[in-house]
Amino acid sequence: MEKRIQPSILSADFTNFERDFASISAADGIHVDVMDGHFVPNMTFGLPMVKRMQEITQLPLDVHLMIDNPDHWAPLYAALGVFSVTFHLEAASDALATGRAIKAMGTRAGLAIKPGTAVSEIEGMIAEFDQILVMSVEPGFGGQAFMQESLDRVAAVRSLIDQQSLPTWLQVDGGIDETNISAVSNAGADTFVAGSAVFKSRDRNSQINLLRELALTSNL
Ligand code: DX5
Ligand code: ZN
Repeated sequence: MEKRIQPSILSADFTNFERDFASISAADGIHVDVMDGHFVPNMTFGLPMVKRMQEITQLPLDVHLMIDNPDHWAPLYAALGVFSVTFHLEAASDALATGRAIKAMGTRAGLAIKPGTAVSEIEGMIAEFDQILVMSVEPGFGGQAFMQESLDRVAAVRSLIDQQSLPTWLQVDGGIDETNISAVSNAGADTFVAGSAVFKSRDRNSQINLLRELALTSNL
């Protein structure tokens, strides 16, 4: 199974994304955390910033919306031509319709669940999405510790994906580093967000390659 590393720019220098994007060229994509100060108690940036990011990198942008009313906003992010747009089940009024609106723009659609949301709540919806995001911290801030109980949740989503032989990517976000990525990979994740573990590292590309190697070899 292919394994992907997506550095989260929440840990990057917000006054110099261009330089920081250039420092993670080994990444499979860039994870872009959009926060509105309502769905989560933190705020980052919105549509104009993501539009500008599209112009300064060739890497696919994986947009993670931690905002209220994704039913309205998610299609607008998709319309920017980003690689994928993931929104939270907890914030959506009609998750299936919102997923379809994202895909109608030619963008991959992702559905995210917070640590307190049961996997059973998305069971019937997985086939409609290109990506499921299992949060392994409470969304809002980078640098938090990985919640060990996430491993069972990842395994549960993996078995739902495999039962239906779906091509859905299984992404994990929060507290991923070199000490736990093997276990997360073994549980069935294929796409790994890592913020502080990449940006705090002196050689970010080496760290990205190390994380990918650990994810790949864990399954051998
Ligand atoms: C948390 C964000 C994450 C965060 C991950 O709310 O969604 O993407 O930046 O950062 P680390 O890897 O430092 O936990
Ligand atoms: Zn994120």
